[in-house]
Amino acid sequence: MKIIVTGGAGFIGGNFVHYMLQKYQDYKIVCLDALTYAGNMETLVDVMGNLNFTFIKGDISNRDLVFELFKNEKPDMVVNFAAESHVDRSIEDPGLFLQTNIIGTGVLMDACEKYGVKRFHQVSTDEVYGDLPLDRIDLFFTEQTPLHTSSPYSASKASADLLVQAYYRTFHLPVTISRCSNNYGPYHFPEKLIPLMIANALNDKPLPVYGNGENVRDWLYVEDHCCAIDLIIHKGSVGEVYNIGGHNERTNLQVVKTILKELGKPDSLIQYVADRPGHDRRYAIDPRKIYNELGWLPETKFDDGIKLTIKWYLDNKPWWDHIIKGDYQDYYNKIYGNR
Ligand code: NAD
Ligand code: DAU
Repeated sequence: MKIIVTGGAGFIGGNFVHYMLQKYQDYKIVCLDALTYAGNMETLVDVMGNLNFTFIKGDISNRDLVFELFKNEKPDMVVNFAAESHVDRSIEDPGLFLQTNIIGTGVLMDACEKYGVKRFHQVSTDEVYGDLPLDRIDLFFTEQTPLHTSSPYSASKASADLLVQAYYRTFHLPVTISRCSNNYGPYHFPEKLIPLMIANALNDKPLPVYGNGENVRDWLYVEDHCCAIDLIIHKGSVGEVYNIGGHNERTNLQVVKTILKELGKPDSLIQYVADRPGHDRRYAIDPRKIYNELGWLPETKFDDGIKLTIKWYLDNKPWWDHIIKGDYQDYYNKIYGNR
């Protein structure tokens, strides 16, 4: 079995590469990653010497490069994690999101079709469903919830999902799609809520909470996500969408206060800042389909996962310190400087 994993130098893709190489010692994994600001070879340092692992630097929207790679590697499956993934950056520069998230997905599927790949799996997001009201805790996203996006990021991911479904119906490409809730865990780039708050708290810097901090996310420990994708690519039905997540809803303020408490830092570090434009209120996954069909449920409770995550950031300071001392400072000043 040979799998091309795109975006494997990023947060979830990197965790997935580690997970698969450990679980399937006879599988070959080829990682295709453009190494944008979010890609980090330090995430893959442990596997670079593994004979079952190959790293190729390249852009998924580069048709010649992608076709040459597929011709040489003849993969059985492709799992597409490569994306521009940050909502705030999509508000600054939507065009890049359309290029990578939509055009890139189309190029990968064209190559899958030409080289007879047996499964193309698209890693999508619950953000394609838009948001749920805060006062209706009885409502959840199911696979039938209409697509209704809020940001250029989520619109680009929803567009890619529609393209994947079109390739299934028109060309019979063997596809699956997963729509996951917010992940957290090791190797999470510190522009996102949880690692940003951990890094700032450790450096005694203000913790910028958007709006009133009452927005809700449904947090999933990244290893649970990897396990779900593993099940879908091996046992999921072609043409189907699977939601991943569930039962770990927290307000942003609850998350931030938990981090401060775990680190022994004061709540006075919290600083309320201007809200994100178009800010989605609540995400909440109904995981019954993946549970009923594939037997998956999240295993890591938020209270345990957040402790594991904080420990990882404490034990791996060079990994994130290196990031926040680089170009990240310009990004931080741009997003938070006058907020
Ligand atoms: P990330 O930003 O940490 O990593 C993205 C990776 O893709 C990086 O290594 C980057 O270098 C690479 N990349 C970007 N553009 C590329 C291109 N044109 N060609 C090749 N590689 C490119 O992202 P993440 O948080 O790990 O998310 C991975 C996927 O999972 C994304 O598709 C995202 O939409 C989806 N997702 C993320 C979450 C989450 O909470 N992080 C939840 C649900 C779904
Ligand atoms: O739901 C899945 C999605 O989760 C993925 O598709 C995205 O790739 C991923 O980035 C994530 O999107 P969010 O926008 O939910 O994640 P983020 O970490 O950016 O923000 C989480 C919440 O925290 C959100 O309500 C905004 C808020 N926030 C975020 C940052 C970075 C703050 O209050 N302050 C901040 O500084």
